[in-house]
Amino acid sequence: MAHAATSSPISSALSHARSENGYTEIDWDKLGFGLTPTDYMYVMKCSRDEEFTEGQLIPYGNIELSPAACVLNYGQGLFEGLKAMRRENGKLVLFRADQNALRMRIGAERVCMPSPSVDQFIDAVKQTALANKRWIPPPGKGSLYLRPLLLGTGAVLGVAPAPEYTFLIYASPVRNYFKEGNAALNLYVEDQFDRASRGGAGGVKSITNYAPGLKPLERAKKNGYSDVLYLDSESGKYIEEVSTCNIFVVKDSIISTPPTKGTILPGVTRKSIVEIALENGFKVEERQIAVEELLEADEAFCTGTAVVMVPVGSVTYKGKRVDYQATNANSMCKRLMSLYSGIQNGLIEDKKGWIIEIN
Ligand code: COI
Repeated sequence: MAHAATSSPISSALSHARSENGYTEIDWDKLGFGLTPTDYMYVMKCSRDEEFTEGQLIPYGNIELSPAACVLNYGQGLFEGLKAMRRENGKLVLFRADQNALRMRIGAERVCMPSPSVDQFIDAVKQTALANKRWIPPPGKGSLYLRPLLLGTGAVLGVAPAPEYTFLIYASPVRNYFKEGNAALNLYVEDQFDRASRGGAGGVKSITNYAPGLKPLERAKKNGYSDVLYLDSESGKYIEEVSTCNIFVVKDSIISTPPTKGTILPGVTRKSIVEIALENGFKVEERQIAVEELLEADEAFCTGTAVVMVPVGSVTYKGKRVDYQATNANSMCKRLMSLYSGIQNGLIEDKKGWIIEIN
């Protein structure tokens, strides 16, 4: 059978010209949240009884796997997501990379994998960002999304941890996650499918959490919604998280978000927003939130590394749609977003050591 020739991602990344100011020559205004292959990826391997020691940068490209790799057969894999940003003064920065490293270590323990130390993780992220620095968008035009993976790549037939592991980081310049841009999201409250269950892996960034969400997401999108909001699987009464981000609810200026007790992903943006809100004198509650409370809220918004912060414009639950005043310039979402992005872009002093300068 004849196969159509396809251009490899390696050649397509490296074939992009570098402009005189050091950037890749692409139309930064056309960036969305899609894969744009960059020049290098980071790879580090170890066996089950070892610790990770040293990795290396190699040209971005496909990886070779045994058909019996544990990650392919039994889903032994985790991922992370974080961003390198370019400030107006030319500084390249990462935000709270230690939190992603720690979350990966917790997830690795849950699915029986060795994991890189926090220092190894941060060093690998820095190396990957710097090696691909011509792909870090100009200030205000997006960021370089870094995607660390920890995979059970060794071959195993019976259900058991893999004999070999690969830590890999690839990168892609990105801008807005949703096609709506920063506009308000229309969420569909899913009452048929669950995302996570008691004692499962919903609280870690396991790759196995995402494929089961594709069907509800596809159905919601077909019906015109931006994303799916999941309820707790035990009672079906309480809101948990959206398939790609955490959710906050605001009522009478009190900010509430569901607690991360095993079924909800402990988002780095979520945690940062809680801390910023408390420091700025807002009342924050981490507690169970019944879906009816969401329907009666003054405001709701979502947070995530990929998503950043976006207001919720409407929620539909069992055929009932509730709309929120999402364009209010003084909304809690906008106020917290300007504090959060101020720390990231350097307009607000970083008093907590959240910013890591890499150049
Ligand atoms: C992120 O926000 O980085 C995520 O991992 C969400 C992803 C599923 C797009």
